[in-house]
Amino acid sequence: MSFKVVCKDIGDTEKLAQKFAAIVKDTGAFVCLFGEVGAGKTAFTKLVCKYLDVREKVTSPSFVILNEYKTGVIPVYHFDLYRLENEGIHTIINELEEYSEGKILTLIEWAEFSQNALPFDRIEVQINYIDENKREFIFTPFETKSNEIVKRLEDENSCF
Ligand SMILES: Nc1ncnc2c1ncn2[C@@H]1O[C@H](COP(=O)(O)OP(=O)(O)OP(=O)(O)O)[C@@H](O)[C@H]1O
Ligand SMILES: [Mg+2]
Repeated sequence: MSFKVVCKDIGDTEKLAQKFAAIVKDTGAFVCLFGEVGAGKTAFTKLVCKYLDVREKVTSPSFVILNEYKTGVIPVYHFDLYRLENEGIHTIINELEEYSEGKILTLIEWAEFSQNALPFDRIEVQINYIDENKREFIFTPFETKSNEIVKRLEDENSCF
């Protein structure tokens, strides 16, 4: 079951990110972020990192593919696959699976290519641009651990 929420401004997105961080700090998660340029994939990542107490600067890792943040309460791996060519993708698929295990948070921007290649427990987050300040977030879990996380997020968000 997907969980859908509209954030009327960046403040709402921050509250959502805070709740998400509070859950995944105990569980870890593997998150694929979908949405057009400027949707808010990096903005959401930054805010989740803020509430995991990450002290490094969080920026889109477009040129390096992966940024690692080690100062927060759990390790965070932030991928941006936008610049990865098709053959490059195949070389990292197996590696990506390792980032889906354990109490770590992995966030992947531009994971579009990989939808059929990522069979493991993950949360897909679709971010839709509504207007300058408003975004729709749709969280879809695949498999047990992700189901639990999205369910908790939905429960905690009922007082939004
Ligand atoms: N409710 C909102 N939620 C998230 N971002 C918002 C919201 N309202 C405005 N914004 C702004 O939208 C912009 C989103 O840019 P961001 O870099 O996060 O997009 P992106 O999806 O990572 O794009 P790219 O594909 O280029 O990496 C930011 O400047 C952010 O402040
Ligand atoms: Mg980005």
